[in-house]
Amino acid sequence: MIRKIFIASALLPAVIAFAQQYGGMWMPTELNEKEMKQLGMKISAKDIYNTEKPSIKDAVVQFDGGCTAEVISPKGLILTNHHCGYGEIQSHSTVENDLLTNGFWAKNMSGELPNPGVTVDFITDIKEVTSQILEGTKGLSGADLEDKINQNIQNYKASQKIESYQKIVVKSMYYGNKYYAYVIDTYKDIRLVGAPPSAIGKFGSDTDNWVFPRHTGDFSLFRIYAGKDNKPAEYSKDNVPFTPKHYLPISIKDKKEGDFTFVFGFPGRTTEYLPAIAVEKIMNETDPAMISVRDVALKTLNEKMRADDTTRIKYASKYARIANYWKKWIGEVEGLKKSRAVEKKKQYEQQLIAKNPAIKPTIEQLNRLYNEQAPYALNRAYYLELLRNAETLTLANIYLGYLQNAKDGRADAQYLNRLRSYLKSFYKDYDAQLDAQVTAKLLVLYGEKTPKEYLPSSFKNDFKSSNQDAILESMEWFSANSIITGRKALNGSTVYSDIDKVFSNQQALLEVLEKDPFITLVRDLKAVYSRTTDVNFAQYQTQIDALQKTFMAQQMETDKDRKFFPDANSTLRVAYGTIKGSDPRDGVKYNYQTHLKGVMEKYIPNDYEFNVPQKLISLYQNKNYGVYADKTGEVPVNFTATNHTTGGNSGSPVLDARGNLIGLNFDRQWEGTMSDINFDPRFSRNIMVDTKYILFIIDKFADSKWLIDEMKIVK
Ligand code: ARG
Ligand code: ASP
Repeated sequence: MIRKIFIASALLPAVIAFAQQYGGMWMPTELNEKEMKQLGMKISAKDIYNTEKPSIKDAVVQFDGGCTAEVISPKGLILTNHHCGYGEIQSHSTVENDLLTNGFWAKNMSGELPNPGVTVDFITDIKEVTSQILEGTKGLSGADLEDKINQNIQNYKASQKIESYQKIVVKSMYYGNKYYAYVIDTYKDIRLVGAPPSAIGKFGSDTDNWVFPRHTGDFSLFRIYAGKDNKPAEYSKDNVPFTPKHYLPISIKDKKEGDFTFVFGFPGRTTEYLPAIAVEKIMNETDPAMISVRDVALKTLNEKMRADDTTRIKYASKYARIANYWKKWIGEVEGLKKSRAVEKKKQYEQQLIAKNPAIKPTIEQLNRLYNEQAPYALNRAYYLELLRNAETLTLANIYLGYLQNAKDGRADAQYLNRLRSYLKSFYKDYDAQLDAQVTAKLLVLYGEKTPKEYLPSSFKNDFKSSNQDAILESMEWFSANSIITGRKALNGSTVYSDIDKVFSNQQALLEVLEKDPFITLVRDLKAVYSRTTDVNFAQYQTQIDALQKTFMAQQMETDKDRKFFPDANSTLRVAYGTIKGSDPRDGVKYNYQTHLKGVMEKYIPNDYEFNVPQKLISLYQNKNYGVYADKTGEVPVNFTATNHTTGGNSGSPVLDARGNLIGLNFDRQWEGTMSDINFDPRFSRNIMVDTKYILFIIDKFADSKWLIDEMKIVK
């Protein structure tokens, strides 16, 4: 298969070598314009990124610090994923008016719903500032180096003149070999305009998550509002729709395999330049550890969720969150094995050493450090997953923070308000009895996987036993004697019945919390962990980071034929590739596109994952597709391409050769999720919602023609 790719690409060796063999998330200021044009791009790099005149970058925003979104009308309308707007859609929902289930479509601008706290960031400028940030750092290392760099960053920021609504963020690239400064405009009045029902926006839910063939209409619409001067402003009903410098025309042309595409967005984190030894540890140790903790949590939750509807609804969103990365890691481990990532990296290291012997000691030291760090890294993986997935321990940890803040005199009224409202929303979806089982099982697993000397003595007595009954008995005693599980009351109230009352006498509360068995357990676990694993892990990590910086620089100096891009770090990037299906496993071939017909094939009436709204069924039965069908006569739903994407790219615009919007990125197929560590063009695909499906849903399903009228449609 690799051979085939190379032969087929004989005409375009450079492009395939750069873009496809290693993937790539390129800085918009450093694009491979030539290669992009060879792959079919018809516009120029200056149309994509320009600070002198409007360019496509002026239509791409970071949505609330995590996902990506894009401007699609002259009136500040933005498009992102349903799973990115999920929290906002949920926040406007009540039992009587459940926008997640029913969807939401504003009838006009005055019906759009404000979302206090939600922000949208535009990147207005990007500058390389390496020399300023590394000035005077020669010969420094460790904390001294870090301090000097931080000081230089502060000085740089102070030297720049910016507007009150702007901020400057300095980011390290290539593991500290380069630095870039970003000027960012933050808009704060972002209103919900439209969202399909979950049966469209989240169709297939967890079963189809990370999977192709896919049939999800994962989109939602918001609008940016600005002050009368078009500048960012706090929410006000007098604010006006934002006028963008650029907005994306939307293409509803048919797509073909091989068409050029690019994705413009904010990928979160990748690690493409690790040594083989690091990949080996992820693949064989830390990923499997994290997967095994979540296996237990998911299985335990699932049993009760299947048996009981209330639990199912309570835990749906948490279950989805736990399952999301669990499934990604499973795909990642398989993909690393299948793409022979470790062997490939080892060979690559030998090639580099042959060209540059100075790399040999770097690799040798990295090998030694990773091997010595491994037991700590493994314990860390179990520990972090334990505290994350055993909810009662997560909760105990929050109370522990409160105890600490109270001791330090930092538990002021504002802090307490935030804490109480956080706890209220936590308890709303927390089933202490169910979690007692999850927590007990995870503690047993932790006990088995952790060397004795890393376990607190209290833990050994209660949980280090292979007798399940004995453990559940301990757990029952813990729960019954705990205020945080709601089993014990204070001031005549429990955390469930009236949390404000529980907090009304702080002195009494702090005394009880101080002795709470779960809080004591977490305090003990944490104390041992901090003085053993954490200290050692961090010490090795500092050395590894310093060497990784050297290794990165050595790779770039030595491998002159390869074009390097910095690992993703939540900054604005461009990935490019072509529309393509894949051969993910023996005997399996995926087409590049799915259609509405496939939604109906998956339809299971009233199923929580695969239900289909009645109206969509009617549109399908009457073939009421308007201009949104393709040449097959069906409406295309999702498609795949070879763009290199990761978490954070959700909601990213996918553009065609002329810079028109053709799709909305939302996922990858799990056979290729090792792309975060080792992109492989054979299996790594990003998954997008077709713009035809988005417009079809807005126009025909939601009858919201007024929104289509704002957009510029390219036929
Ligand atoms: N796998 C996608 C991305 O990380 C989509 C996640 C949302 N969907 C879900 N079923 N949980 O993150
Ligand atoms: N679903 C991811 C996101 O939420 C995208 C990905 O990991 O491919 O950003």
